[in-house]
Amino acid sequence: MEAVNAPLRFWDGPLLAIESSCDETSAAVLLGRRILSNIIASQVDLHAQWGGVVPEAAARAHIEAIVPVADEAVRQAGLKPKDLTAVAATNRPGLVGALSVGLTYAKGLAFALRLPLVGVHHLEGHILSTLGCPEPPPFPHLCLVVSGGHTELVSVEEPFRYRLVGQTLDDAAGEAFDKGARLLGLGYPGGRAVQEAAESGDPARYALPRGLSGDTLDFSFSGLKTAVLRLVQKEGSALKVADAAASLQEAIVSVLSERAVRAAENLEAKALSVVGGVAANRALRDRLADHCRRSGIGLFVPPVELCTDNAAMIGLAGSLRLAAGERSPWHLDALPNADLPGPPTPEGVPGGTSA
Ligand code: KG4
Ligand code: ZN
Repeated sequence: MEAVNAPLRFWDGPLLAIESSCDETSAAVLLGRRILSNIIASQVDLHAQWGGVVPEAAARAHIEAIVPVADEAVRQAGLKPKDLTAVAATNRPGLVGALSVGLTYAKGLAFALRLPLVGVHHLEGHILSTLGCPEPPPFPHLCLVVSGGHTELVSVEEPFRYRLVGQTLDDAAGEAFDKGARLLGLGYPGGRAVQEAAESGDPARYALPRGLSGDTLDFSFSGLKTAVLRLVQKEGSALKVADAAASLQEAIVSVLSERAVRAAENLEAKALSVVGGVAANRALRDRLADHCRRSGIGLFVPPVELCTDNAAMIGLAGSLRLAAGERSPWHLDALPNADLPGPPTPEGVPGGTSA
């Protein structure tokens, strides 16, 4: 990977960004790459009663939150709606009902204020979230995207130029934390609960599978969930929950860090970024820091508020696309699935073709 260091061009007026692809309603205001506000209303308590995100309930909760959250983002930025110059919103991939709420709000506002609108790919938001850090990674770099819905290794040549080099074949890493936590009776969402329970546990106490072996850069976490279920059934009341949590965390962290560092070495990448909700995991951060130090790779992990779903990262991606001339049509769709995007097109983005 040869270093490219062309200056990035951001949209230079106040930009409102909206994110509602899953269970966080978020709005942010950016000025260039500067994040003036980043409001996040989490639905975690709502979905905890069902042990996972219920799409219909998520959409309804976004409807209740979107207006106050967006108003607060503009207010905290010290602005009035009339000061805004563009709107960006996640339109893909995600829960369609949830996405539609944020996207419809964004369209309505952009239409009323006569502002340009751009639809943003949620994963591109995560990948570019590091641009909001005081010290962003250089391009090109390798990015490990680890969230509740995604586990992907992406070679990032520069913004808009992405190449998928590895991905999960079944469950995402965050899902493995969440499902494991549920089996261990640790509640929802599972990532933080497993991390906390693991603090006093022995990661070598229970042997859990690592999924795929060999030189693949793909991941598989579904066997881990089954193994935790068997462990819980076999041990019954003798199960040491802290040890099981530590063993589960170790199984996930060791695979993620081994693959990410091997991919970076294969691609001769000088830098590795780790983004998405699971990047908040302390054990993962420590393990990667250790591996990267030994391999001479720079490690870049955003602060937690830029790791979990948030509108600031959508604003960063949207800002670059708007500055490059991309505009979305009013009939832009919300899409459940979508490949990583390519360079901007003035004609809009995927999801803008069916009126
Ligand atoms: O990026 P995110 O907020 O939403 C998605 O796009 O999915 O990621 C949520 C995921 C959940 O699976 C949650 O359990 C996990 O991130 N997570 C963690 C931690 N904090 C959140 N996983 C491990 N350790 C954590 N500290
Ligand atoms: Zn996400």
